[in-house]
Amino acid sequence: MQPDPKPAPVSLRDAAGLVHCRRTAAVARLIAHHLFLQPEEKDLLDAACFLHHGSIGVGAPKRLERLLADIFPKDEPALLARAPISVGARGVLNAYAVPGTGTALELRLAGILRLADAFDQNMEAQPIDGEEVGEILERLRGGVEAGLWPEEAIDALVQSTLPPPIVGQPGSWRVPVFPEAALRTLHLMRDPRAGIADVVKAASLDPALAGLVMRLANSALFGRRAAVSTLSKAIGRLGFATSQKVITSAALRAVFDPPKLRKVWRHSLEVADLSEQLAGRAGAVDPAEAYLVGLLHDVGQIALLSMALYDSARIEGLVRAGCNPVYAESLLLRTDHAAFGARIAAAWRLPESMVAAIRQHHRPEKEGSTLACLLYLAEQLSGSEEDLPSIVRLDVSLKGAGLAWEDVANCTISALGSWLAAA
Ligand SMILES: [Fe+2]
Ligand SMILES: [Fe+2]
Ligand SMILES: [Fe+2]
Repeated sequence: MQPDPKPAPVSLRDAAGLVHCRRTAAVARLIAHHLFLQPEEKDLLDAACFLHHGSIGVGAPKRLERLLADIFPKDEPALLARAPISVGARGVLNAYAVPGTGTALELRLAGILRLADAFDQNMEAQPIDGEEVGEILERLRGGVEAGLWPEEAIDALVQSTLPPPIVGQPGSWRVPVFPEAALRTLHLMRDPRAGIADVVKAASLDPALAGLVMRLANSALFGRRAAVSTLSKAIGRLGFATSQKVITSAALRAVFDPPKLRKVWRHSLEVADLSEQLAGRAGAVDPAEAYLVGLLHDVGQIALLSMALYDSARIEGLVRAGCNPVYAESLLLRTDHAAFGARIAAAWRLPESMVAAIRQHHRPEKEGSTLACLLYLAEQLSGSEEDLPSIVRLDVSLKGAGLAWEDVANCTISALGSWLAAA
């Protein structure tokens, strides 16, 4: 028996296209749901969305299936089963390619597909155009007159994504007070006269902090030396900068205490570690400040916890469907956790440089914040997929931080960073 021919390699272009197709399908589904389309009509729309870039799917269903299997988790067989091109989906695709042709249903679905496609392309162009979601939607209204999509489709997209009012009101967020020990280290960081004795004072504010400092000083990371038994000796062994870092991270852990934020906290420790290293390489920002802002960059996630279950389920649904979290937040809330985080940081009276960095950590092109550029780079290095990948933002961030890609590419989590994440 002849062995199966080796499948053709998946090109980057195809993979990127499919991620776009997947998001297009998710946005189209929002519209379809609002318009009460029948389940089989939604399935047809789904299939057409996945296939609307002809080079990926049309005429090559086997290859398409393999591509889809790469993108979708194995536990979504129903989605895969729908993927091969059906006659119906082909009709929608024809109507999509040639506006004004096809049956009434094909025309309707093709209009929705065209709108969802245009919306996603505009979101991809955001780093260059700088448009907010509301502005994009307003501009897409022009497509009705141009005959690209029906008014019902743009109305449905606008209506189904009107943000719930409660989310934007800080009064509804359960924001903890800024921990005293972290406040102290923030002052110490900005005080050139500060010394080890001040760090000892900050660490003794909380037994949990002191405990962590002792554990680290006696850990294998600091060699097989005689165990230290007092806080001041432990801090002496760790040194000023490391002690400050440990105290700050231990103090801020409480802010991310809700179970839903545990993953955010581990991610924040990684981003803090990478931001600090990048700041050391760039030289324009105090590494300790970069570390602190790294720990807090996603603090706006606290605000998302105040959302009604229905609203958070809608965001999670979009994320599961392939839209990155910032994309889903921007579409359904018309803002994102970075903007919420900046409001929390401002309420805590953190320095304006930190507030701006938190606000712009997913849009480093918006303000001239070097800290935001470092955060963006650290975020990418950490492997986080919070936002759409953007070569434009990567470039802006490198320039803003005064770094070259070679300075950044080999930056990995330090041994101390891993220790703290596991502690
Ligand atoms: Fe497209
Ligand atoms: Fe992040
Ligand atoms: Fe973020």
